[in-house]
Amino acid sequence: MSDQLPPDPRLEQAGASDESLLAVHEKALGKKPEDGAHYRLLPLMLLFVFSGLIFYAGTYLNHFSGHYSAAIFNENAHPAKAGAVAKVDPLVLGKKNYDLVCTTCHQATGMGVPGVYPPLGGSEWVNGSDERLIRIVLYGLKGPIKVKGADFGAAAMPVFGQVAGSGYNWSDEKIAAVLTYVRQSFGNNSPAITAEHVSAIRAKEGDRKEWSQEELLKIP
Ligand code: HEC
Repeated sequence: MSDQLPPDPRLEQAGASDESLLAVHEKALGKKPEDGAHYRLLPLMLLFVFSGLIFYAGTYLNHFSGHYSAAIFNENAHPAKAGAVAKVDPLVLGKKNYDLVCTTCHQATGMGVPGVYPPLGGSEWVNGSDERLIRIVLYGLKGPIKVKGADFGAAAMPVFGQVAGSGYNWSDEKIAAVLTYVRQSFGNNSPAITAEHVSAIRAKEGDRKEWSQEELLKIP
């Protein structure tokens, strides 16, 4: 049985000219006649529009980023200009740290626990000499002490400053803030304590052990 194959198209096309082959291929590929002289305007315009937007965004960010300073909340502020950086309110910082730590012993009321933790509200140590007050919180306090006529001494006041043996290592600014808060809360109304004053006392005393009432009373 001999099969009659259909004529092979490749053989048929063998006789086609180059031009006719090109024409057939271009038709098959769906190629349009050349129009290289015309740009497509829309993509070109979009390119310009988006380049412009990116440029604008970059300029905006550069101008209003506040130079990426963490202390900036005002987008128009400039850290290089003195006073533009927002200062942390010592009463806010002080309250935060009082509530975190001091409150465990001296209580949220600032009135302490009778016989164990002395009161800060109405205390002569808080409202009296700032030199003594700063030393108590920087270096701690141990031994018998009289506060508002009552005797204490069963427990010790911890070391808070950036000094040897400190469990807290609080900055001078933090100590000044908490003392300012204590001096203006719990019925107290005494002047603020500055970080510069705390720094000066820390520089003067260096590293030392906890104070006793006796030693403190020698300081004016
Ligand atoms: C672990 C408990 C404890 C913590 C926490 C504590 N204190 Fe005291 N504080 C004491 C004790 C106890 C005394 C009394 C020490 C003594 O008897 O010699 C004292 C004494 C004081 C005094 C002097 C006496 C008085 O009542 O006026 C001040 C001021 C004071 N503390 C402030 C603070 C501040 C501010 C903080 C937080 C930064 C703080 N204390 C955190 C336990 C504590």
